Amino acid sequence: MTVVTEETDDQVRDPVFTGPGTPAGRLMRSYWQPVLQSRDLAAGTAQPLTVMSEQYTLYRGEDGVAVVMAPRCAHRLTVLSVGTVEGDSLRCMFHGWKFGPDGRCVEAPGESERLVSRASVKVYPTREAYGLIFAYLGDGEPPKFPGLDGFSRTYGHDLGKATTLDTETYVRRCNFFTNVENGLDHAHVPFTHRLSSDPSKTKTGFSPDAVHQEPIEVERGENIIRVRERGGKSPYQATFLMPNGLHLIVGIRDGIMEQFAWRVPIDDEQHRSFAIVARYLPDGPAPRAAAVDVADWPPADECAELIIRGEKRLVDFVDHPALVNIEDHVAQVGMGRLADRTHEYLAESDKGVVQLRRMWRRELDAFADGAPVRQTW
Ligand code: FES
Ligand SMILES: [Fe+2]
Repeated sequence: MTVVTEETDDQVRDPVFTGPGTPAGRLMRSYWQPVLQSRDLAAGTAQPLTVMSEQYTLYRGEDGVAVVMAPRCAHRLTVLSVGTVEGDSLRCMFHGWKFGPDGRCVEAPGESERLVSRASVKVYPTREAYGLIFAYLGDGEPPKFPGLDGFSRTYGHDLGKATTLDTETYVRRCNFFTNVENGLDHAHVPFTHRLSSDPSKTKTGFSPDAVHQEPIEVERGENIIRVRERGGKSPYQATFLMPNGLHLIVGIRDGIMEQFAWRVPIDDEQHRSFAIVARYLPDGPAPRAAAVDVADWPPADECAELIIRGEKRLVDFVDHPALVNIEDHVAQVGMGRLADRTHEYLAESDKGVVQLRRMWRRELDAFADGAPVRQTW
């Protein structure tokens, strides 16, 4: 695991290093970030959490409120995530000190009132919305919470009118920025996803000449970059939102899919993606086909690792329900967990990626000069 904690000249303008104290890490911590799907944290449970190479404790009180807290107890520093939830508080498993959702010690068996009133652990602002738990892990006051509804009404389709609304998450074992850039890399779609878009291609072979590569247009706003297919016939629209967000609209078989996604670093060599997925289906949800049980298959990241190592091929997973994810995973992790981008050969089709890197650099410079972050939504 690579964790960079001290600045060097190279890292000053590089988004890929987000450990504590790094320039990109400070910028990323200045925005709300999703940290877990709501359904993955039951009331009365606690778990450890790693975001941007830092440890935290995440628990949900019996009152249903999610709390992001320091990783270690204020007393003798054991991990709080193995403690027990009591009411809205968390009791350490070592000597039983109990901390409330504001981080204050509320009980320390055998200790004085004075000690109890003084002991505390750090807690972080936490919000829950659209099936995701978000935390603000930076210093000072958090910025306004992302207004996804308004953004969707202006640039998308209106989340409030979606036929289905769900969340999705996965871990990908490469730097988060590789996936952020992929959001504006429209040229990869007909190639990387040729199998998932038409499984018959396994039999007929594949000719690059047969692929219709749509020309794209790139539109740049103050804090966003939008990529569309030129000509405006396709509903396809990918909008990068500083610093690690993507708003995506794609045509699907029965209608339109709109997605808000965040690629959140676990550390510098792996990240977790969180997405809010809205589907607009004019004829309503299709009756469920024979259920494809995801549990019957290995997780997408494991399949991708087998393919990268040459032990399996993509066609071996043609029926995998997460084939699209496996395809992206292979392409992105195939670049290396922390890709050496100094050896790339960028081309015309990379103009979205180039704009994205420029925007990040500009924002890093402005942030280093003390400018406040600009909320995109
Ligand atoms: S280390 Fe937590 S109570 Fe002692
Ligand atoms: Fe993709």
